[in-house]
Amino acid sequence: MGTLIQGGKVVSAAGAALADVLIEGETIARVAAGIDAAGHTVVDAAGMLILPGGIDVHTHLDMPFGGTVSADDYEWGTRAAAIGGTTTVIDFALQSMGRPMTEAFKTWRAKAEGKACIDYALHMAVTDLGPNDVWLNDVDRMVAEGISSFKIFMAYPDVLMVNDATIFKLMQRTAKLGALVCVHAENGAAIDVVVQQALAAGKTGPLYHALTRPVLAEAEAVHRVVALSEMAGGARVYIVHVSCEESMREIAAARARGLAVMGETCPQYLVLSIEDDMGRPGFEDAKFVFTPPLRGKKNQAPLWKALRDDVLQVVATDHCPFRFADQKTLGLGNFTKIPNGAPGIENRMQLAYHYGVNAGRMSLERFVEVTAEAPAKIFGMFPKKGIVAAGSDADILIWDPLAQYTITAATQSMHTDYSIYDGFAVAGNARQVYSRGECIVDGGKFIGRVGRGEYLRREVAAQ
Ligand code: URP
Ligand code: ZN
Ligand code: ZN
Repeated sequence: MGTLIQGGKVVSAAGAALADVLIEGETIARVAAGIDAAGHTVVDAAGMLILPGGIDVHTHLDMPFGGTVSADDYEWGTRAAAIGGTTTVIDFALQSMGRPMTEAFKTWRAKAEGKACIDYALHMAVTDLGPNDVWLNDVDRMVAEGISSFKIFMAYPDVLMVNDATIFKLMQRTAKLGALVCVHAENGAAIDVVVQQALAAGKTGPLYHALTRPVLAEAEAVHRVVALSEMAGGARVYIVHVSCEESMREIAAARARGLAVMGETCPQYLVLSIEDDMGRPGFEDAKFVFTPPLRGKKNQAPLWKALRDDVLQVVATDHCPFRFADQKTLGLGNFTKIPNGAPGIENRMQLAYHYGVNAGRMSLERFVEVTAEAPAKIFGMFPKKGIVAAGSDADILIWDPLAQYTITAATQSMHTDYSIYDGFAVAGNARQVYSRGECIVDGGKFIGRVGRGEYLRREVAAQ
């Protein structure tokens, strides 16, 4: 006996069609019109969209950063993700300087163990190749453990930033293995000069976080990393949180030359802007201090277009939540001390659907592709994840395209005392969420068991 989701419209990147979906155990047994309901529990999905569970490939749960720790641990972060229709996250194991990657892997598995409410995977954030580059061999070990993507930061000097030699050596190794290098692309050294000049001039408020990180610092880093990847023999590269047209154009140029360069953007860059969302009274702007910063509104249309045209492939959140009251305020009087990051894991699907599909900026199929199917393919989880098809994990959203929902800090599940989307009214929301065959969210309530999420071993991917 299985669960039969009956009468919905099943959507994939390739198309949409009315079909029933039969779940048996943790996987999808059949997707077809008119499946015999005898012996099955029937879920009526007439008028609903049947979507693959969302995959958020950029989250920072329980992460020490900016003199504090991000406010959502694996329990609270993945619960909020599930409520918003995300059934898989890829978070970061952060290598400590002077310590091997293997240690970070153990540390982050322990943080998630017994807490994750949905399946999770890890990228390895590389900060140190070790004496005589001995930890380069950890790259191979991590791939054997199912970590097929490595993150480097070209920003945050003295904290996470690595130099070009490290980037290049890492790329030479990943190119051999077919693994992926994810890049936070910003010229950290040049930004630091601008930051010090601003502080010296008494410009200490949160707005200066944005004003000291120009778009050219991002675009220059994208250009450099593309060149390094080509020098390294064609390393696969994925640029995270692309925030502006200038960076997007570098990616477009690389892709036009046939290079394996991919990129994501995030809802905050698609629907918020420096004009609309900064310049608030007092210290309020600190809520919007994340990196890269909010950009001019004129960047939004090119970013949407880049998503449509496959210059960018993914919408992720960069969920890195900090409470306003006791965490963001660490930077009162000095914007460099404001922990960088904002909450968003719960709202990605709603925002991409409402401002993408409802607004006519992308098709329903492309929405599914950028929120689930492409992340699964790029990050080595397809077809286990990312598609509603026979044999895949039964990670399924019964999506009500007409559901009205208003995002508010008071009603959200993320553990922050504010939302950067407070008051945003959207249409379209997850009515039920299935994770490996289990209904874990019903009507916006998490009904699964804390700790049920499993660690996902990923392959090096073809795409
Ligand atoms: O401000 C941000 N984005 N915080 C998280 C770390 C990062 O750069 O992704
Ligand atoms: Zn970043
Ligand atoms: Zn991030």
